[in-house]
Amino acid sequence: MSEKVRKTIIAGNWKMNKLRNEAQELATAIVAGTKGRDNLPDILLCPPFTSLDIVVQTAKDSAIQVGAQNVEYHDAGAFTGEVSPPMLIDAGVTHVIIGHSERRQFFGETNQTVPLKVKAALAHKLTPIVCVGELLDERENDLTDPVVKRQVGAALNGLTEDEVKSVILAYEPVWAIGTGQVCESKEAARVVGLIRKTLTQFFQQDKDGPDMVPILYGGSMNAKNAEELLAQDEIDGGLIGGASLKADEFLEIVNHACKRPRLSAAKA
Ligand code: PGA
Repeated sequence: MSEKVRKTIIAGNWKMNKLRNEAQELATAIVAGTKGRDNLPDILLCPPFTSLDIVVQTAKDSAIQVGAQNVEYHDAGAFTGEVSPPMLIDAGVTHVIIGHSERRQFFGETNQTVPLKVKAALAHKLTPIVCVGELLDERENDLTDPVVKRQVGAALNGLTEDEVKSVILAYEPVWAIGTGQVCESKEAARVVGLIRKTLTQFFQQDKDGPDMVPILYGGSMNAKNAEELLAQDEIDGGLIGGASLKADEFLEIVNHACKRPRLSAAKA
């Protein structure tokens, strides 16, 4: 019987930032800062579509993987402006962020479209990073738990147990994103724990399944608060926006993740 370990993942969501030369510069610095080191967390960079290829090239002989920030669920066809899973695979991408709150707020992403995208990504062996989280108003009205449970339930609806195990989740309270107002670490860990409990509904056979799904925290994580957030057993890493745009700060967060004792999550 071998011990399975839940991964620690540090993902940079560059959002709509960085021209190609800037993206190359940032990726080069991150590759240099992680080269030859062991015991690193999984590191993922998510640049805008236009810089995917340059970042894939820059990260080629490194441990760093590259993700997109959105995907369309059809493979091809008359969907002007969209990018499909096969196109992302073709570009060398391994991961894709789905259901980010900015897409929910500004681009019509819903609990109906998120599961279609998750299924499409998995069908093409792209790892989805599914974002969930409550609005400030929902938190103030004690709706955090039902909102997050509903989002998780909807996003993973209809997946097999193996498919759920291939997903990464991110708890991103919307009021904490880009505001500098980080969620207190114990509360972030509580909600991540609630998400893990919610996962039990997807596992009838494999009772260890929920313990094998990495769940990240995102929302104003930075070099100063990362240590405390990553010290929480429940939190398996970070999805980092603003602080991922500077190599030094991102690498400091990576360093904090290196100190994190990896959990023995489930037995195989
Ligand atoms: P932030 O963004 O770190 O800038 O708050 C996180 C995210 O939106 O994923």
